[in-house]
Amino acid sequence: MPHVARLLVLVLFVVSLDPWASKSTASSYHEYPRRLAHHIRMPSLNSSSKVTRTGSDRAEASIKGVEEIPHYCAYQSGEAAYAGTIATMDVYAFPNLKKGQSISAHISVADSQTSNQLVSGWEIDPDLYGDSKTHFFVYWTTDRKNGCSNLDCDGFVPVNLATITPGDTLEPSRGHMNITLKIFKSKEDGDWWLHFGHDINNLSPVGYWPKSLLNGMQDHADDIEWVGSTFSFSGEISPLMGNGHWPRSNSAASFRNVQYIDRNGKGYDPPMGSLHAFESHKQCYRTGVFQLQVQGNMFYYGGPGGCTG
Ligand SMILES: *[C@@H]1O[C@H](CO)[C@@H](O)[C@H](O)[C@H]1NC(C)=O
Ligand SMILES: *[C@@H]1O[C@H](CO)[C@@H](O)[C@H](O)[C@H]1NC(C)=O
Repeated sequence: MPHVARLLVLVLFVVSLDPWASKSTASSYHEYPRRLAHHIRMPSLNSSSKVTRTGSDRAEASIKGVEEIPHYCAYQSGEAAYAGTIATMDVYAFPNLKKGQSISAHISVADSQTSNQLVSGWEIDPDLYGDSKTHFFVYWTTDRKNGCSNLDCDGFVPVNLATITPGDTLEPSRGHMNITLKIFKSKEDGDWWLHFGHDINNLSPVGYWPKSLLNGMQDHADDIEWVGSTFSFSGEISPLMGNGHWPRSNSAASFRNVQYIDRNGKGYDPPMGSLHAFESHKQCYRTGVFQLQVQGNMFYYGGPGGCTG
């Protein structure tokens, strides 16, 4: 066999050995842009909940100048016009988180020019909620400085008889559950709706962000993200992310059924090679390969934490 042909056969063999080679999007790792670091940091700086947080460890720490450090593992869309996204997340219970620490996983729909942004997911944040329970949350901002969590201020409009209300606790049985969240711009009223369920086929409306709230997203959003994150104070040990397992294990935390939503409310796959992967602290947390697959696009993320800077 001529040398070149033998080499080609070898290359084909190696490629076929890699189970992700044909179906993963080519993802490159970037430094998380500064503007994005803001929206995994989601204190409602300007809402009524400010009152309850004054005197909190977090508020005192920021006064004393102790730095609160965000850590994140994420995928971000390429810049294009989007009408929404859907994803299913693993949800966990960590009843012993300390004040000053938080763990979250969420989806984000945003406009990069105006910094309009809608977020929903789960979080454990003793400083914010006064307990170490897992809470379902929503958040919005129009400038990445002033924002609002849950129903702390006017903005998100909950629907009557919704199965869940922003801020409610989620109670993962035996420490684990799945939630599916869908944020999309409704064709009927133009508002940005949030649907919730425990699996992708049984979603129901939670409420909506009125289009009048979001000048920068009158027609569409241009930035979609799926994010795992943690916070801790500088010098303190950062908590685990996801469920603490590295993404190379299939027991790690995941985002599943990851899709964009079109103008008719239907899901569609991210184009190959269009997503950017992020890891803020590789030694503590990792973002797994994004897998485009028929049974649902997914990636694993997380890690044991333990970073102090
Ligand atoms: C933030 O505070 C300013 C000044 O009090 C107020 O005018 C503005 O409406 C507030 N924004 C939100 C989102 O609550
Ligand atoms: C969550 O989803 C995974 C993957 O589809 C499934 O294997 C698991 O049984 C689900 N867990 C629960 C508690 O529903």
